[in-house]
Amino acid sequence: MRILIHGGFFSESSQSKETKEKKQKALLNILDLGKSYLKNHSAIETVIYTATLLEDDPLFNAGTGSQIQSDGKIRMSAALMNGLDQKFSGVINVENVKNPIIIAQMLMKEEDRVLGGAGASQYAENAGLPFYSTETPERKQEFLAKKESSGTGTIGCVVLDSQGRLAAATSTGGKGFEIPGRISDSATIAGNYANEYCAISCTGVGEDIVSAGLATKIVTRVTDGMSLKDAFNKSFKEMQSHDGFAGAIGVTKNGDIYFQESHPNIVFAAFNGIENIVFS
Ligand code: GLY
Repeated sequence: MRILIHGGFFSESSQSKETKEKKQKALLNILDLGKSYLKNHSAIETVIYTATLLEDDPLFNAGTGSQIQSDGKIRMSAALMNGLDQKFSGVINVENVKNPIIIAQMLMKEEDRVLGGAGASQYAENAGLPFYSTETPERKQEFLAKKESSGTGTIGCVVLDSQGRLAAATSTGGKGFEIPGRISDSATIAGNYANEYCAISCTGVGEDIVSAGLATKIVTRVTDGMSLKDAFNKSFKEMQSHDGFAGAIGVTKNGDIYFQESHPNIVFAAFNGIENIVFS
């Protein structure tokens, strides 16, 4: 069994040592909860469960604590991919729900598995999800001060379960101050992808990740026989020419795990089958 989680990027210049320690502690806590859950649940169930924990922690930019867009509203995106049947589901720019990843989970059973905007919010309401404001005082203050949020990023989780099944989940509050209607990478196959060989979740600048087709590209390379490390290195190298800003976590069916970032520092934690690792 393997489980990797990420919580976006950490900036040494704009974030304090205390924030870093808080994020490390929060990630290790959530990793342990996800790990225990994985003992009795499948990869897809575990990525959903773990992503909700990350969405509920206001330290991270997804669910509660999401960034505010240029018109003062919060719009969130999330996606799930089950490596077993290669089914992708996602929700784009949904408003006023606690856990966007739960809507992605609900959409898995639908014929129409990716919903956006007003239709996505209506679907959530029809499904009985209560109205919930994910705005926090910290994010509001940052928005009013028109400054970059310290929570820049996304959350994600990739899992290999005891039956050898893989899954990926990714959720984001976006980049902050964006034009309403912008679509991030998180609910696309560039930001979240899994098949029977590999599962990847990305964070960083959505436009760069989509331009690189990052998650799909890494998974395809692993599927075609490349090692996970080489697939990461080659895909990240290809982003260098346009200074792509991205990070990713990945796991293979053989239990290999890897993470990489184009710029420092991706916030991640992982259980490699033996011990927990956390970003430093
Ligand atoms: N990766 C999240 C975003 O760009 O919105």
